[in-house]
Amino acid sequence: MAQLWGGRFTKETDQLVYNFNASISFDKKFYRQDMEGSIAHVKMLGKQGILTETEAKEIAAAIQDILQEVEAGTLEISHEYEDIHSFVEATLIERLGDTGKKLHTGRSRNDQVALDMRLFTRQEVLETDQLLEKLLHVILTIMEHNTDTYMPGFTHLQKAQPVTLAHHLGAYFEMFKRDRQRMEDIYRRMNYCPLGSGALAGTTYDLDRYDTAEQMGFEGPMLNSMDGVSDRDYLIEFLSALSTIMMHLSRFSEEVIIWNSNEYQFVEIDDAYSTGSSIMPQKKNPDIAELVRGKTGRVYGALLSLLTTMKGIPLAYNKDMQEDKELTFDAMDTVKGCLGLFTGMLSTMKFQKERMEASAKHGFTNATDAADYLVNHGVPFRDAHGIVGQIVLYCIEKKIAIDDMSLEELKAISPVFEEDIFDAVSMKTCVEKRLTIGAPGQEAMKKVIAIEKKYLSRD
Ligand code: ARG
Repeated sequence: MAQLWGGRFTKETDQLVYNFNASISFDKKFYRQDMEGSIAHVKMLGKQGILTETEAKEIAAAIQDILQEVEAGTLEISHEYEDIHSFVEATLIERLGDTGKKLHTGRSRNDQVALDMRLFTRQEVLETDQLLEKLLHVILTIMEHNTDTYMPGFTHLQKAQPVTLAHHLGAYFEMFKRDRQRMEDIYRRMNYCPLGSGALAGTTYDLDRYDTAEQMGFEGPMLNSMDGVSDRDYLIEFLSALSTIMMHLSRFSEEVIIWNSNEYQFVEIDDAYSTGSSIMPQKKNPDIAELVRGKTGRVYGALLSLLTTMKGIPLAYNKDMQEDKELTFDAMDTVKGCLGLFTGMLSTMKFQKERMEASAKHGFTNATDAADYLVNHGVPFRDAHGIVGQIVLYCIEKKIAIDDMSLEELKAISPVFEEDIFDAVSMKTCVEKRLTIGAPGQEAMKKVIAIEKKYLSRD
């Protein structure tokens, strides 16, 4: 047991208490941020004359050494310390003696940990954004090549109207684009520095909080020291955005699983991204998509856990807040892993275009267009709906598609039909007539692709 705060205690901490309280096993994850924060702090103490310039330089250099040794693997972060802050300070004191003891002047672990977690999360926001960007590139490439790949669009998982693969994937493009916007937004809002908040009430030292904020790339200091040590909103926002990413990935995974099923065969997942069965030799399972879908639950869990942890905590810092880390780290890693794997799976997946197109031809996906044809020839929509309903019934009995009917058969149901009905209900017409922006028609789709290409080339 190695603690920073033994002074007012007369008894040793019980080992079980010590273990329960310690956080080094997980807060060592932000050792780099902890040391970068300490270097910024000590440089500012030197500039402000709170430490001498020599002391500040000596401490900053020693922390830099510790950092390099940890990165090189020559110095191990020992679990005998309570947390990463204690490890760094103790190692520093071992090396510099009394000078090392001055590092923590004007600082508390409360503002220190708030800073570390913020610095770490800020980087995670950027990395998640980069992974989303890669996924968007893959989606857009598939879209560009498939503006005329017809497939059924569904509602209630029932064939509804024909769309294209570009259009279907375009929906996911928009979702992941909004996810990126959420990253940008969270970054902007969280990028204020808690360091200098002290334990809760600032300090009596003449700290320059603007200086430390600037050294670490923050917009400025957080403007209330009690908020500085106890705000975890930014983590909740991030976990909420991560949950939304997982929800999108999970919906997409579900579609991949359906499309990959023997019944659909719309796609074939690459061998490198599928797994087999230990007993059934014919099996090629979509495990990656299933795992992504499955892991969505644990990311939601992290969000709900932190919301619940925070809801009853009075100002300012309370130890409950230490619980902000483990599940959040897990959620961060889970989402990054899922984004990377999903992108790989998607970029190697084969789309069985003929199967998709054949499927779009059946299931009366052109029934709305047949009704629209009648409307264009003066039949009120509600009547047209009824007429086409009869046609569908007739086709179901005869096991044929609308396109397979003869003009005589059609005319027997409504005399309004003429030869041009066949062109009007052909799949090509059904899709290509839909030209309002956002619709699947090729010309409309190409406009959207151009807009999104421009958006991606901004980065
Ligand atoms: N490990 C603690 C945490 O994660 C660091 C802050 C400790 N502060 C304190 N007053 N005990 O929240």
